[in-house]
Amino acid sequence: PRTPVTVTVTGAAGQIGYALLFRIASGHLLGPDTPVRLRLLEITPALAAAEGTAMELDDCAFPLLSGIDITDDANTAFDGTSIALLVGARPRTKGMERGDLLEANGGIFKPQGKAINDHAADDVKVLVVGNPANTNALIAQAAAPDVPAERFTAMTRLDHNRALSQLAKKTGAPVDEIRRLTIWGNHSATQYPDIFHAEIAGKNAAETVGDEKWLAEEFIPTVAKRGAAIIEARGASSAASAANAAIDHVHTWVTGTAEGDWTSMAVPSDGSYGVPEGLISSFPVTTAGGSYSIVQGLEINEFSRTRIDASVRELTEEREAVRGLGLI
Ligand code: NAI
Repeated sequence: PRTPVTVTVTGAAGQIGYALLFRIASGHLLGPDTPVRLRLLEITPALAAAEGTAMELDDCAFPLLSGIDITDDANTAFDGTSIALLVGARPRTKGMERGDLLEANGGIFKPQGKAINDHAADDVKVLVVGNPANTNALIAQAAAPDVPAERFTAMTRLDHNRALSQLAKKTGAPVDEIRRLTIWGNHSATQYPDIFHAEIAGKNAAETVGDEKWLAEEFIPTVAKRGAAIIEARGASSAASAANAAIDHVHTWVTGTAEGDWTSMAVPSDGSYGVPEGLISSFPVTTAGGSYSIVQGLEINEFSRTRIDASVRELTEEREAVRGLGLI
């Protein structure tokens, strides 16, 4: 049998953790031939809850699950890890300023980045889910100078999947006939879901829709504000769909995008499309052989340019803010 791959999940006792761990253990993250060893990182008061989840994982008798370790120590949690899913974060509470939020998350992502730097496997891949995800990824990356910078990514796959689903609904096309959709920028309300390069059954999606008013006034705001709409309806934030997107993000990174298609991932910018180098911003990316590349040479129209720039401006401000706080 193959040697198990160590997968670390932080915030494992939270609601995304609860929706995520069972799918990792059942083989949806790394495929049906790869056994996994789970490492759960939680804060001390949540260790008991994490133990409870581990008991349930045991009770599933997953053939691919070779072991579970639970810890409140980041150095132990990331020891030998190949896939690090950074889910636990400090949420924004009422009246909290952006600076306070970034500082509180710096206190989480800086030490975790350092622990990844010092203890993770050489092939470690990092996905940051915890918000503000792009900037938290930047903080962790800065604390891990020995890990190749491109291994630090943040999640916009949930936004991507939301956009796919909205477009499918509008056009009546099944989601698997839609290709080349892109989320640009920050995982926040400024993100830009772009259908100008997307195709539905091989035809240009924007032309097929032919309704710029719908695009500007319905599609984009619906995708960008979907998280808030879920909270409003469910009384709790997206969890199962976020866990599903985390699975998709890593699975695509490891197994590759389909020929002729791409996905959306927030990755360190190489300066493409006018996004300042080093910002962790969402791009169209293809993946193969465990690495990814930003799709090059797309023509960006006026409509898209304004929106990409606005989201990138927000990311630049967040980077300045964490720089000012000495977090990067
Ligand atoms: P939650 O509050 O249910 O769980 C978070 C867990 O993290 C808690 O169990 C907490 O004890 C733990 N935690 C806090 N600090 C920690 C630390 N230093 N080390 C390890 N664990 C720590 O939250 P939920 O719903 O699971 O969401 C987690 C994060 O994911 C939030 O920041 C949320 O905003 C974000 N999110 C991101 C999405 C995306 O598309 N990028 C989508 C949905 C949620």
